[in-house]
Amino acid sequence: MKLQLKLITACTLLALGLGAHAAPLIIKYSHVVADVTPKGQAALKFKELAEKKLPGKVEIQVFPNSQLFGDGKEMEALLLGDVQILAPSLAKFGKYTKQIQLFDLPFLFTDIQAVDRFQASKEGQGLLTSMTKKGIMGFGFLHNGMKQLSANTPLGMPSDAKGLKFRIQPSDVLEEQFKAVGGNPQKLAFAEVYQALQTGVVDGTENPWSNIYSKKFHEVQKYIMESNHGVLDYMVIGNAKWWAGLPPDIQKGLTEAMKESITFGNKVAFEEDMAFRQKVIDDKKAKVLPMNKEHLQAWRTAMQPVWKKFEGDIGKDLIDAALRANGK
Ligand code: LMR
Repeated sequence: MKLQLKLITACTLLALGLGAHAAPLIIKYSHVVADVTPKGQAALKFKELAEKKLPGKVEIQVFPNSQLFGDGKEMEALLLGDVQILAPSLAKFGKYTKQIQLFDLPFLFTDIQAVDRFQASKEGQGLLTSMTKKGIMGFGFLHNGMKQLSANTPLGMPSDAKGLKFRIQPSDVLEEQFKAVGGNPQKLAFAEVYQALQTGVVDGTENPWSNIYSKKFHEVQKYIMESNHGVLDYMVIGNAKWWAGLPPDIQKGLTEAMKESITFGNKVAFEEDMAFRQKVIDDKKAKVLPMNKEHLQAWRTAMQPVWKKFEGDIGKDLIDAALRANGK
């Protein structure tokens, strides 16, 4: 009897003790790129900051390199609640909103600073809440950088792209962009790009320097053209329903950590883009070719019809706001 009482007391104390140290809330943050990229570093910074601001209350699990979910599955997983935070490229929202296709229009922004100005504008910020009804909330925009064209033949003029197969992100705008120069675009998940280039499933692609270097695309491409013809940036998003159900103190801590981690990631993007370019050059695997004004003008002219095609879906107001950010 005495032993029984002792056991009950011990169990009660144990239960009370456990109650005082409730398990932290697990938050999964999944993405498809390497840890060294601006997005990879921003995700790790978010983990560091959130766990510091909310000690014992949250545990952030970061899954890089498509380890948890690749391109095809991640949005679905977010909406099902299997993952809480993602940072897909702005080219991957076509199913949920047509407006964000804006960012894929070729030669829309003059440089990443212009992209930054647009994202900070009223119109840009409005896009963060444009998918709330679909269950997706935007925390903020995160930079990677301007895209460079790559292939196994030099692409000086747009006619050089004729008949070549290009890997693209799942974006109808990017599909039309390559069709406009006579190329054959193929939508492929990011995790499949290296092998597709290596085996000749596709002849070329487009990506910013950090992705080219960290995924070794320059080892399976002979030429990289410094085209800066478009942008590859991200929206960091969360499951809207999950977010709305979080206690206010957790929301506050996570909001702060997210803001600071995005600022950090953007700093990395600004500061390291040229360093990744240099690493690609130093590796001497692919030849990095500059594009002169005449070349760029020819590509711009060839791709210009894409704007008209998507103007109705995206909205002329939004395109004009983006152009204003260029200072034009
Ligand atoms: C791609 O698919 O090329 C990119 O969106 C990958 C990424 O997340 O930067």
